[in-house]
Amino acid sequence: MFNIHLVNQNVTIHAEEGILLSQACADAGFPLDLVCGGKGKCGKCKVDIARMGRKESVLACIFKVDSDMEVWL
Ligand code: FES
Repeated sequence: MFNIHLVNQNVTIHAEEGILLSQACADAGFPLDLVCGGKGKCGKCKVDIARMGRKESVLACIFKVDSDMEVWL
């Protein structure tokens, strides 16, 4: 289990390793608008994350949780 801190919502959720970030958010009640159906093509699910001391932008529909992180939805 990893801790995912949703910074703007001030909520920390818990997610199994390997779950899609979009699924973890949806399971916690914060669904993203997956315009292309989660195929990694539209870019509408792009979110900023910070993990292991690095910030980056990822597509939540194809990014798999692999560590604790902060997420800006
Ligand atoms: S929902 Fe389209 S790229 Fe993620």
